[in-house]
Amino acid sequence: MTEASEARLMGAVADDVERAAEAALRPKRLEEFVGQPVVREQLSLMLRAAVARGNAPDHVLLSGPPGLGKTTLAMIIAAEIGSNLRITSGPAIQHAGDLAAVLSSLEEGEVLFIDEIHRLARPAEELLYSAMEDFRVDIVVGKGPGASAIPLALPPFTVVGATTRSGLLPAPLRDRFGFTGHMDFYSAAELEQVIVRSSRLLGVGVAQDAAAEIAGRSRGTPRIANRLLRRVRDWAQVRGDGTLDLNAARSALQVYEVDAIGLDRLDRSVLVALCRRFGGGPVGLTTLAAAVGEESDTVETVAEPYLVREGLIARTPRGRVATVAAWEHLGLTPPEGGALLPGGGTQLSTGRSTDTLFDA
Ligand SMILES: Nc1ncnc2c1ncn2[C@@H]1O[C@H](COP(=O)(O)OP(=O)(O)OP(=O)(O)O)[C@@H](O)[C@H]1O
Ligand SMILES: [Mg+2]
Repeated sequence: MTEASEARLMGAVADDVERAAEAALRPKRLEEFVGQPVVREQLSLMLRAAVARGNAPDHVLLSGPPGLGKTTLAMIIAAEIGSNLRITSGPAIQHAGDLAAVLSSLEEGEVLFIDEIHRLARPAEELLYSAMEDFRVDIVVGKGPGASAIPLALPPFTVVGATTRSGLLPAPLRDRFGFTGHMDFYSAAELEQVIVRSSRLLGVGVAQDAAAEIAGRSRGTPRIANRLLRRVRDWAQVRGDGTLDLNAARSALQVYEVDAIGLDRLDRSVLVALCRRFGGGPVGLTTLAAAVGEESDTVETVAEPYLVREGLIARTPRGRVATVAAWEHLGLTPPEGGALLPGGGTQLSTGRSTDTLFDA
């Protein structure tokens, strides 16, 4: 085995381990789901009404940055209505026929979860329109001028779509969802609850101040909170006495290079590139991504939303710009007369919410 393929394999194994650890911590019911009070209440009403009527609920679209609980909510929706969940994703469906096969095998009332729905191929997307609206698909038989479409009726079912890029969804698709839940970053208090809950499930106790410390560095994201909690547990086990206290939290987070406001290596390298190499910008996304050796998509969906929300970078029509807060966070002196914006979060707002900034 070459070194590269071994590294890839190890990466895949590590991913599997992380996924399994995540699955164990997923809330199973709506009442266990921490935070997102608006989405939770709206969903709860909709699901209860549908169950009471004996109908399949309307199609649900969940949008928001990675790790905020979209997949978790999809599973919860199926559990709440007591039905089966079928899982697929945009990239897994290469041809319209793949989707037709999935749709025609659905049973009444089932929930079809389509992850990364913005990555569905166009023909599959068009097939989905009629399936979602009229519970019907046209199965094409034959090729060329002799081809004919046989309409196939589907039993009522519910599509739950998840996307980190709702801005990329074509309007006709977006319009076919009866409910869209916009997931936003979690508050520190909510993340603290997530951490306390997870530590209980992991069978370890966590001191309140340690939970608060981890929460404050989790970038508003439950997935990150759970991951950091596991790293703190590792540190406590190997270097400490097993207790998850403030010292363990701080020491572990230092080892894993998670800074005081939760920025990780990627976040910081984006900021450093922006300030050091591009004088604070404005610089285009592709150029910035190339400078940190990442895909534009990763920088845009993984690092940027939180940096924008924290008021460290701003998106302008001419490109990304570092704010005064970014320079200060890196301990650098902002240049005079540069393309600077004042730091400090919301006053940077261009009048759009984080979500639209995120989707743009
Ligand atoms: N509200 C919540 N309460 C408790 N734990 C949560 C909550 N939301 C998410 N989690 C935890 O965070 C992890 C990540 O959530 P999930 O996989 O649902 O995110 P996602 O939005 O689907 O991310 P992606 O866009 O990367 O697919 C889950 O394993 C779950 O344990
Ligand atoms: Mg997911």
